[in-house]
Order: sequence, then C-alpha cells, then structure tokens
Amino acid sequence: MASAGLADRVRIDPAGPLGARGTGSDSMAAELAFSARNISKTYAKRRALDDVSLEVRRGEMVALIGPSGSGKSTLLRTLAALVAVDKGGVVETAGITIQAEGRITHRVREARARTGFIFQQFNLVGRLSLFSNVMVGALARIPGWRGVLGLWPRQDQQRAMEALARVGVAEYAGQRANTLSGGQQQRGAIARTLVQGAESILADEPVASLDPVSARRVMATLADLNARDGLTVVVTLHQVEYAIRYCRRVIALKAGRIVYDGPIDGLSRPLLVDIYGPEFEDIMPEGHAA
Ligand SMILES: Nc1ncnc2c1ncn2[C@@H]1O[C@H](COP(=O)(O)OP(=O)(O)OP(=O)(O)O)[C@@H](O)[C@H]1O
Ligand SMILES: [Mg+2]
Repeated sequence: MASAGLADRVRIDPAGPLGARGTGSDSMAAELAFSARNISKTYAKRRALDDVSLEVRRGEMVALIGPSGSGKSTLLRTLAALVAVDKGGVVETAGITIQAEGRITHRVREARARTGFIFQQFNLVGRLSLFSNVMVGALARIPGWRGVLGLWPRQDQQRAMEALARVGVAEYAGQRANTLSGGQQQRGAIARTLVQGAESILADEPVASLDPVSARRVMATLADLNARDGLTVVVTLHQVEYAIRYCRRVIALKAGRIVYDGPIDGLSRPLLVDIYGPEFEDIMPEGHAA
C-alpha cells in the first residue's frame, strides 16, 4: 500500500491548510501550535490551574503528566477552548487568540477545526459504522441535509478511507463502532481528526482504557503521525513509561502548576518521586528513569 502517498493526501503538510485557510500573519504566528500565557482556572474555591504558561511548537509531541487531580485534563481542555480560563490568561492556537479576558473569543471556530481532541472513552457513536463515525469529521464541510442522508461527497469518502488506512483500521470500516476493540475505536477516533483536517491532536489519556498491546499501537499511531506528517501532539498520560518511550518533551503538573517542562531525559527519578509521591518508587521499577 502506498502509505506515503496516502499520508500526503490525508494529512496536511505545513503549507497545506495554513496556506489555504490562514492569512500571512497567521502563518507566521502559527510556528506555535499552542501558546498559553498565565492561565489559571478556578472552580468554586479550587484552583485547577495556577498561573500556567507554555508554548508548543508545530510538529512537537509533548507528554503531559502528573498525578490525578493535578490539572492535566483541564489544561488540555483550555488549549481546545473546551474550558474557559480565568481573567488574565491568554490562549492561542496556531496564532489565533482563542481565549482572552476570561472569555472564549469569536475566532475559536477557525481554530477548532485545526485541533482534534481525543478522549479516553473514544467517543464514537456505537451503532454507526466506523466509516460513518469518521465521516462525521468531514461534516463541517458538508451541507447538513447531505450529511443526514449519508450523501457524503466522493472526495470526503475517499479521504475517510485513506485516514482509516493511515491509522491501520481500514478493514473495519463497515463494522459498527461498538463491536470494535478499544484500540480499534481509538484509532478510528484519531482517523476522524485527520478527516476533520486537524493539524494538532490533543489526546486526554487516549490509552488509559486499553490493554498494553493496544495502548502501544495507539501511541505508535500518534507518534507516527507526528514524525511522518508533522502533526503536533499533546497527550496526557498516566504511565510515565509511555511518555519516556514516545515523547521527547514532557510537561509535568503538580497541584495545577508546571513543575517540569523539558526534555524527557531531564525527568529525573527524584523529580518523579517529588511529583507523584513516594509510591512512585513502587510503580516505576529502578532503571526506568535516570
Ligand atoms: N468541572 C469541574 N468542576 C469542579 N472542579 C473541577 C472540574 N473539573 C476539574 N475540577 C477539579 O480540578 C482539578 C484538576 O482536575 P483535572 O481533571 O484537570 O485533573 P487531572 O490531572 O486530569 O486528573 P486525572 O489524572 O484524574 O484525570 C481537580 O481537583 C478537579 O477536581
Ligand atoms: Mg484527567
């Protein structure tokens, strides 16, 4: 199978959608896939994020780690404008300001198509075929009535099949989503973001519900899309092993603050123990981290 050709057509090279959709100045600013400046998020009295700033360049693959409740999902959701941050914080996607002054801006729609969001629970419609689920990614471009009737434009159908092939599940296209394994569903969810035209994928614990073999496949799929097609990937992970194996950069959160942002090699054992607490010694055998 001519996978490189498929990838070229399914995926978006840097000159692709930006060139087509963006203005010149957007393209310049789009060196950064994501930028968050001084963002905090307060729920009632609890601070889920506390003055967090970060930049993710296009083409990076970044792991977001930290103990339960440290703010990983909240941070990821703010980057997709699924959560509005407190006043004072600014969030940009590909140079487009999507959050400022405590509000989600009107330009968020432009930015949303560029960002695919993957959830732990796959979020496919169970009774629909994998193919139909993936076609949903193209709905933004298809007039409503055609989508309802399943009259998908040929070009989009082809794009969907290519995307499914790209993530290795084309043979399951006709199967109902709820009869697929978790790993197959998750790869289908990734294919949907490709059909949507996403340049970046934000994945919130995409492998937490999967067995180790399926988890590795999903991580490898994300890493491959990052390496070969230049997709930006930010992925929250519970298992530090996956961060070490698949990501060069890691951002660690603890109690809503960034306590480490740098190369995976700099993630020392004492730092991990500090982040996760002494139990970390039990879950991470000696030798895994420096
Ligand atoms: N909608 C909400 N309402 C109130 N509190 C919330 C809400 N969402 C998150 N929080 C709180 O914000 C903090 C951070 O939550 P978040 O889900 O971002 O953590 P996490 O690092 O993703 O945790 P986990 O590893 O368990 O998924 C937690 O204390 C959580 O209880
Ligand atoms: Mg979470």
